[in-house]
Amino acid sequence: MNIAILASGKGSNAKAIIDKINAGEIPGVSVAGIISDKPGAPVLEIAESCGIAHRYIDPQHRGARFSPESVREYIDAIRELDADLVVLAGFMRILPPEFVDAFPQAIINLHPSLLPAYKGKDAIRRAFEAGEKMCGCSVHYVNNELDGGEIIAQTAIEILPGYDLRSLEEKVHAAEHVLLPKVIKDIAEKRVKKNSPLKVEAYKGRTLSCYRTENSANYFARIRTPENAMEAFSFAAEHDLNPFVLGGGSNVFFRNSKIKSFILKNELPQEIRHLGGDRFEVSSSVKMAALLKFLYGQKRDAFYYLASAPCEIGGAIAMNAGSGPAEGKSVSDFIESVKYVKGMELVEKGKNDLGFSYRHSLFSDAEDVFIISAVFRFPEKAFAENPIEQRLQWARCNQDLSAPNCGSLCGKYDAKLMRIARFIFRPFPAGLSAKKLNWALNKSPNPVWLAMLFGTIRALHKICFRRLKFEVKTVD
Ligand code: GAR
Repeated sequence: MNIAILASGKGSNAKAIIDKINAGEIPGVSVAGIISDKPGAPVLEIAESCGIAHRYIDPQHRGARFSPESVREYIDAIRELDADLVVLAGFMRILPPEFVDAFPQAIINLHPSLLPAYKGKDAIRRAFEAGEKMCGCSVHYVNNELDGGEIIAQTAIEILPGYDLRSLEEKVHAAEHVLLPKVIKDIAEKRVKKNSPLKVEAYKGRTLSCYRTENSANYFARIRTPENAMEAFSFAAEHDLNPFVLGGGSNVFFRNSKIKSFILKNELPQEIRHLGGDRFEVSSSVKMAALLKFLYGQKRDAFYYLASAPCEIGGAIAMNAGSGPAEGKSVSDFIESVKYVKGMELVEKGKNDLGFSYRHSLFSDAEDVFIISAVFRFPEKAFAENPIEQRLQWARCNQDLSAPNCGSLCGKYDAKLMRIARFIFRPFPAGLSAKKLNWALNKSPNPVWLAMLFGTIRALHKICFRRLKFEVKTVD
C-alpha cells in the first residue's frame, strides 16, 4: 500500500511512520511522497534526509483553506504518487469537498484530542485549560466536516495533577507516534472497517451501458460495502425507484437518455482470497480477465471460455455464463456458495439453492439482489496450451471489430430476418456485425439508432410469426 503524507509542521508523526516502515514493523506499506503547504516546513527536510519524494504546494489562501486551482494541484500531485491512502499528519488546512471526494474512503487525519471533544486548533491547550481529567489523540476518516469523520482509533491519556501543558503535550505526541502507524498498519492489513455511507448522485456520460450511448441519470450510487447495497435498496424503496445493478449479468440498453432507474455500480474491493486447498473466495467486482490470469498462473482449471468477456465475476454468476449449449459448461460448475445482499439482509447460500441452469440463476432479473462474493473450487490442472491465448485468438477471428462491439442481442432468432435487418441498417450508425448475425455494432452516442435496430428486429419477427428472445435488458 502506497501512502502520501500531508503535513504542515515539525513532522514528528511523519518521521514515526517512516521509522516504523524502515524497521519492518508495517510490512507492505511505503511512503510514496510528502507534501506540505508550508515552504520551509521541517517535515520536508525529514523527507529529504530519508530519500522520500517531497514538494511544497502553495495553497494560495491566507487562511486555512485552498484556492480552487491549488486544490486541483494537490489532487493531481497525490494521484501522481499513486497513493492508496492519504495521511494527514499535522496538516493544518480544511479539505474542501472536491478534495475529499477525489479519494473516497482513503483520507485519514490525526487529531490531538479525544474526538468529538476539542475539534479544531490548539486542542491540547484548550483541554488542559478547561481542567479536563482526560485527553488523548484520535485518528479518523476525513469527511466534509472539520475533524468530523468516523473515528478509527483513539488513545486516552489521564491528566495527572503534576502535569503542565508541556508535559501533557509530550505525552500526547508520544501516544500519536504509536497510534497513527498502528492505524496505517491495520488499514493495510484490512483490519479497519471502511466508513462509506452511500452517496446517491446524478450521472451523465457514456459508460453505463455496453451500448455506449449518451445517458444521464438522477440516481446513481457506487456500492463499496455490503452495507451500501442495503442502504441502496432501502433508498430505492423510500423513493419508489427501480434499482438496477450495472454488470449484473445482462447487456443493458437505456432506451431514454434520461434514466428513471436507480443505477448501482459495483465498486467493492476487488479481492481473490485463497481459502486453502482448491477453494477461493472471489469478490463480485473482480474482472473476469484478472481472475482467469490469476488462476492460469496458479495452474488451476476454470471457465477459460470467458477469457475474452469484458465482464465482472458478479455478472457472470448472475447469468451463469455458459460455453454453449453443446458443451454444457457453466460458471456454476465451479461454485460452492454465493454471498449476496437481498433487500436488507446479507445471505449466503450453497450452489444447490441458487437455481442455476444454463445461462440462468436465482439472480437473473432479480432487482433487489446484489452479489458480494462467491466461494469457488478451482482444481489443479496441467495445461498443454494457454487457454486464455486460445480464447483470445478465437475472439479475434470471430468478432467484427469494424465498429464498437456491443455483444450478443438475442437468445433465439430467425437468421433470415436478421440478415434482412442487417441489410436495412447498412447505411446507419448502428447495425449487425458482418461476421455474427447476433452481434450489434454501434458508432453513435445517440440511443435512437440502436432503439430503431431493436425495434426493426422485433417487428420483422412479429410480422413473420417467428420466435425471438432478446438477451438485452432495456431499462428506463
Ligand atoms: C500533531 O499533534 C497532530 O495531532 C496535530 O498536529 C501535530 C503535528 O505534529 N494535528 C492537528 O492538530 C490537526 N487538526 P508533527 O508535525 O510533529 O507531526
